[in-house]
Parts: sequence; structure tokens; C-alpha cells
Amino acid sequence: MEFNDNLKIKSFADYKEAYRESVEQPEKFWESVADTFYWQKKWDKTLEWDFTSPEVKWFQGGQLNITENCLDRHLETIGNKTAIIWEPNDPDEESRHITYRQLYVKVCHFANVLKNNGIKKGDRVCLYMPMIPELAIAMLACARIGAVHSIVFAGFSSAAIASRINDSQCKMLITANEVYRGSKRVNLKGMCDEALKDTPSIETVIVYRRTVEPTPMTPGRDKFWFDELQRAETTCEAEVMDAEDMLFILYTSGSTGKPKGMVHTIGGYMVGTTFTFQNVFQMEENDVYWCTADIGWITGHSYIIYGPLASGVTTVMFEGVPSYPDYGRFWEICDKLDVTHFYTAPTAIRALAKQPLELVNKHNLSSLKVLGSVGEPINEEAWHWYNDNIGKTKCPIVDTWWQTETGGIMISPMAGITPTRPTFATLPLPGVQPALIDEQGNEIAFNSKQAEGRLSIKFPWPSMARTIYGNHQRYKEVYFSTFENKYFTGDGAYRDASGNYRITGRVDDIVIVSGHNLGTAPIENAINEHESVVESAVVGFPHDIKGNALYTYVTLYNDIQPSDALIAEIRNTVSNTIGPIAKPDKIQFVNGLPKTRSGKIMRRILRKIASHDTSNLGDTSTLLNPDVVQEIMENAL
Ligand code: WT7
Repeated sequence: MEFNDNLKIKSFADYKEAYRESVEQPEKFWESVADTFYWQKKWDKTLEWDFTSPEVKWFQGGQLNITENCLDRHLETIGNKTAIIWEPNDPDEESRHITYRQLYVKVCHFANVLKNNGIKKGDRVCLYMPMIPELAIAMLACARIGAVHSIVFAGFSSAAIASRINDSQCKMLITANEVYRGSKRVNLKGMCDEALKDTPSIETVIVYRRTVEPTPMTPGRDKFWFDELQRAETTCEAEVMDAEDMLFILYTSGSTGKPKGMVHTIGGYMVGTTFTFQNVFQMEENDVYWCTADIGWITGHSYIIYGPLASGVTTVMFEGVPSYPDYGRFWEICDKLDVTHFYTAPTAIRALAKQPLELVNKHNLSSLKVLGSVGEPINEEAWHWYNDNIGKTKCPIVDTWWQTETGGIMISPMAGITPTRPTFATLPLPGVQPALIDEQGNEIAFNSKQAEGRLSIKFPWPSMARTIYGNHQRYKEVYFSTFENKYFTGDGAYRDASGNYRITGRVDDIVIVSGHNLGTAPIENAINEHESVVESAVVGFPHDIKGNALYTYVTLYNDIQPSDALIAEIRNTVSNTIGPIAKPDKIQFVNGLPKTRSGKIMRRILRKIASHDTSNLGDTSTLLNPDVVQEIMENAL
């Protein structure tokens, strides 16, 4: 086998055919996809499911190791091809190019470090690491021996690390002494030491030295990565795993309560992420793919590591931030590495669009072929900026809708195949059966008529999360109790007459104003269309007469001054797009909106400020920009 793109659908007609088959004969469809992987033993039963318990099992009885699919099977054909290009934070430090063969050796070598330190199949290992190749090596090493990785984004606080370690009882923590982030150096090990005061399950801490700074080590518990490699063998057989064994746990925040440890299992996740990767991005043999996400999020798991490596492509890992040494860094890297496929988030696009265009235009960007977007709805303005200035109108944009829970992309164009439409994630990928649900809880049939409703999925797909670690009841309540026999996504969506989906935003953020149900997402979308507005967040606050009224936080482009005229214009924009009822009562101009690390606006905090109830804002330490909270509070209306 050469470069492994045998799962690729190559035309729109083929897509329609594949989609039809995937609905009419889902088992047959996924069997033929799964057949292209390396299994130590073929499965006995393709699918068993019941959305009421809920229970979903794919490829039962099958035995495999995902690292044999990401590494071993490529050695003969593309062993010398670059698997990972690592681009450091500092542009003057050298990039690293790691071939498939080198990666294979490093993974096997480090797998023995895990074993030497008592890690066995089924044990949980927490990874709190910067974006360096050792993170990829550590996660694949876990998979090699059947240990379960639980990656915690290396920007989270020590309290967040501790609660995640304790929830899944991790035995080992792997970290780095420090991390470079733009012009800053962050002491990761110090953060871990703080967390480790309260994590009795941890027996060993492995520390990778990213910098030469001295690092306090606790004897008996803490060990340096390099010292441990010295005493480890370099070969390691892949552990025989069942298709439904756990591959990893990844925590995602719930709208309330403690984070949910989403559990993904090996066989279905591998099949789903690889299939979607190849079809959405449509890469060719010598292409270079760069996803700017952090591996601490599902996007990094599925589309920096597992999907790309199983496909035998070259994947870029970037250690730094888009603003260092200046806001042209992304474009500089695209030119330097001849990136062909670039995948980022709307929040990054909007931040970059705010900067002077020279920062883009001094780079040529001619290697780019496909652009991707993920994480939140992409507004019309950002879409066009991305298309015009980055893609030079010749690169298809794949707006990929999915979730931590779905494991892989669900609704998205396939690059160059599916006709795109700005702000639309377009059509479901093969194997994905979406349904729109109306106010009464009934499915809105697709009669070539446009419709809007709550988005749910009617049939299982291989890469779906199987449970919440240690709390199956919560899994059932959150995802399978809203609509009978369907997975509920928590998102709202609009479907046009051709069946294209546009995700309108979370539907949990509904405000009732004078008895009218108003979704905050469409109001924000309307406000964001105003040419002076970068972003906005709408929340409800208690109102004597209306019950609730709307409070809006707005960020403006750098050169725009707040004014009463602007307030009137914004109110009119909303009134014209949605109706007078949706006009915000209060508009506060702010320098930034509080965001989670994955770029989502923290409406919980904004709701409290709007209600003048700031006594208990909860933990703001995990925010991307905790500083803005104080400023917003001081200027609250
Ligand atoms: C939520 C899932 C998927 C990996 C990153 C986020 C929103 C995601 C899109 C998109 C509109 C999107 C949804 C979804 N979302 N992609 N292309 N268009 N909305 O994963 O943190 O689990 O968040 O992100 O609201 O439910 P996550």
C-alpha cells in the first residue's frame, strides 16, 4: 500500500451514493471502511446499539492496536516520510522533522518507560504537556501498551488538573518542566506540584525538560524523561486490544457542574476519525497539513494525531501562539513549511482579521489548497475575510461541525467536492443521520423546505463517545433523555431547501423576554453583522416588566469609538434582522469577552455581571483571559 488515501470519496456523485448506502446499510458501509485497517483479529459483530440504556458497540470481538495503524503499517511504504513537523514557539529555534520510522521507535521506546514504571493495560495516565512532539509520543506510547490517556490542556489551573486526575484515578502524570508561550515562560511543573498535593492516586511523575531552568523534583516520585529512556528497551510489541477497550478520556465542561470525562474507544474512534479526516480534507501524497488546535482538545486528538497519522500524512504541530513574535506568525509558518491544508477556529480568524492586512500580504500563501474552520459558527464577515485574504478565493473552506462527544467531524463539506455556502457546515458526512426537532419534540421531516430546530442524531456512528467516565447515568441524562431514541447535541440548526445545515449556536442559551423565547445566538449573529463590531455576547437579566431583558456586551474594531449613535445602529440592526422584541436594553462596550480555553464565551459570568450578582463568579482561573472580567465588572451598566 502506498500513501493511504483509500477511504477517499472523489466526487459529489460518489458522496451521494456513499451517503445513501451508509443510511440504507450502515453496517455494510462501515464494514467496508473498517476493512481497510490492520486488525489482529477481525470483528464478529459490526454494531450493537440501544439509545435508551444507552449502549453502543462497534466492531465487537475485533482486536487491534491503533498504533499499528498509525505507525507499523506505514514503515515499509512511507517509513522515511515526515510524520510530524514541529514548529517551535521561537522562530529562531530549529523546527523538528520526525519520520514515521523515527516516530515508531520513539513511541516504542517511551512505551517501555511507562511499563518500567508500573503502567499496565487499562491504567489511566494524565498528560499535562506543551505542544511538543513528546506529547504525541506519550499519547501513542499509552495506546501502544493499552493504557488510557487523559490529556489536560496545559493552560488549566492546578485545581483543574487535580479534579481531572482524581475523577479518573490516574496512576501517572507526564509533564514538562516549563513551556514557552509567546514571550512568556510558564512553569508547568510548579502547577503540577500544586495539584499533586491532592492527588493520592499518582505514583509517578515523568518530567520532560523543555528548558534548562532548574526543576525541583520529589525523590521517589518524580523522574526525568531522558533518565528513564536511558534504562528502557527500544522495542515494544503492541498490546492486543479489544475494539471497545478505552483509548482515552477527555474532559469537556458541562453547562453546569463538574467536567464530563468523555470516553472514546479504540476501534470505532480509529475508523471514524480516519474516514472523516481523509474525506473532509482530501489530501494528496505530498501535502502538508496544519491544524492549529492544541492537542489538549478533541480537535488535536482526532485531527493532529490519530486521523492524520493513520492516513500517513505529514502533520504540523505548533508550539506557539498566533501573536508571537507578531500577528503574522501563522502566515509565516504556512510559507515556511509549504502548508497545503490549514485548519483553525473562527475566534482566531476574527482576531487575525482585526490586524493590519500587511501582516497577511507580506506572505505569499501560495501553497494553500484547503482551509478549515471548527469550534463555533463562523460569521459571514470572518468567512469572507478568510476566503479572500487567506484562501485568495481559490481554497475551499470546510466548516466542520462536531463535538468532543462525537469524536470526529459530523457535518462538513468535503473539500472541492461539496458545494460550499458561507456560514453553512453544509451536509452530513456518510454515516451521520441528523434530525431537526421542533418545539413539540417532533422531528421536522425534510421535504425540500427550509426548517429550523434543535439538532439531534438518529443513528450511532463509530467515533461517538461511549459514556462519561464513572457516570453513565449522567451520560444518559445529558445526551439521550431530551429526545427519545436520539442523541441530543445541544445545538440549534437551520436547514435550507437543499438540505444544507447551518449551526446557529447552543440552544441552552434561551432568554424569555416578555414571554417570547429568544435564542441569544441569532441576536449575536445579527449584531456581529454590523461593520464596527468584532464580537458580541447577549445574556438575559431580570426586568420588572418584561421578566427578562437583554444585556449585550460588544467588542469593536480598534479604530472605532463607542457612541450613542453606534448603540442606536446596533439596536436597529437587531430590530431589522430579528424584530423589535429582540432589541437589547443595555449595550456595554468591552475590550474583550471572557472565554474558555477553547474559545467559547463564558456566558455564565456575563449573566451574573448583567444581574449585578457578582458575589460568586465561580472559578475564573481556567479562562483564556481572566483579566477582562474585572474590567467588565467595573464598567457594568
Ligand atoms: C460545540 C462543541 C469540535 C471540536 C471543537 C469544539 C460548537 C463546533 C462548530 C462549527 C458551529 C460549532 C457547537 C458544538 N461548534 N464546531 N463548525 N459551527 N458550531 O468541541 O468543545 O466539544 O464544542 O462547538 O456548539 O456543540 P467542543
